[in-house]
Amino acid sequence: MKRKIIVTGGTGYIGSHTAVELIADGYEVVVIDNLYNSDVSVLDGIHAITGVRPRFYNEDLCDRAKLDEIFTAEAPVDAVVHFAAYKAVGESVKKPLEYYRNNLLSLINLLEVMEQHRTPAMVFSSSCTVYGEPEELPVTESSPVQEAASPYGFTKQAGEIIIRDTMAARPHQKAISLRYFNPIGAHPTAHIGELPRGVPENLVPFITQTAIGLRDELKVFGNDYNTPDGSCIRDYLHVVDLARAHVVALRRLITGENKANYEVFNLGTGTGVSVLEAIAAFEKATGVKLKYSITGRRAGDIEKIWADPSLANRELGWKTEINIVEAMETAWRWENRLKNKES
Ligand code: UD1
Repeated sequence: MKRKIIVTGGTGYIGSHTAVELIADGYEVVVIDNLYNSDVSVLDGIHAITGVRPRFYNEDLCDRAKLDEIFTAEAPVDAVVHFAAYKAVGESVKKPLEYYRNNLLSLINLLEVMEQHRTPAMVFSSSCTVYGEPEELPVTESSPVQEAASPYGFTKQAGEIIIRDTMAARPHQKAISLRYFNPIGAHPTAHIGELPRGVPENLVPFITQTAIGLRDELKVFGNDYNTPDGSCIRDYLHVVDLARAHVVALRRLITGENKANYEVFNLGTGTGVSVLEAIAAFEKATGVKLKYSITGRRAGDIEKIWADPSLANRELGWKTEINIVEAMETAWRWENRLKNKES
């Protein structure tokens, strides 16, 4: 019998790519998502790639009774991969309580219901945002977690601590937190990708929307940072590489290869890329010249951060395989697919 995995936020950007990789690896995937920041048509995309349409519950994880019903209906559930959360940094500053309620209550409900239904394992979607502005680069999992720069960032820090403490009290369960650096790109088939709400805050959707004519120009937020070309540096990894990491993390938990019942891994390429280099990678991948100008710094931006992914390389046997130029090419294919859908 296939192992059954509940993917919360499974119609979201990273969730949908992970659902595809899980199905390809032989798992049965069940999606819970309230479609707050995603579209139900993503299930069609998953179906087009895998030939499988995951069972879907349009529910909010903050509704504990509903969650209980789903776990009862789906029993036995082998593991949960938990993506569902609000994720806009700027919005979280304006609506902190909404972020705390949504991101933390949903996690607490999930952990309670998992205990009730004896679900043994969880993979949690965390972020390099927990490191703040790092003092040393690259960042390892033991680099200090710094005071969060936003309520969103705090929900990731708090989420990790809630899981760590819960696992410490429950030796019969296990969990892994995955700290993502900057996921970009889309599935190479262009059946799924990122669907930003309104004006994108993240770099790559802004680049592709500018290139396709939806935005006038990209504003590069600052060229006076202490970096070789003055623009900020990040570690951009392809979303399919990231999705694959969830499959190997899950396998580690299911097969019992984990060394502790709570573990944390950085997921990145290990290479820092500046905003200007990212633009150059896009232009190289697509042959499209991008219109951009340099403006002032964005409040709260980190100057430079990239991962030391050696723990994930060693322990999970995982490393990124898709480079930034290839990643940009998939992002562009996806943007074109969206345009063709509209017209
Ligand atoms: C941001 C969040 C991070 C969160 C992640 C989720 C901040 C400070 N960090 O990461 O906590 O986990 O999103 O996706 O908001 N840039 C431009 N022009 C643009 C957009 C971005 O120059 O129009 C630059 C930014 O200054 C940054 C880089 O591109 O240097 C990447 O930005 P972005 O995609 O927003 O990601 P992060 O800031 O790394």
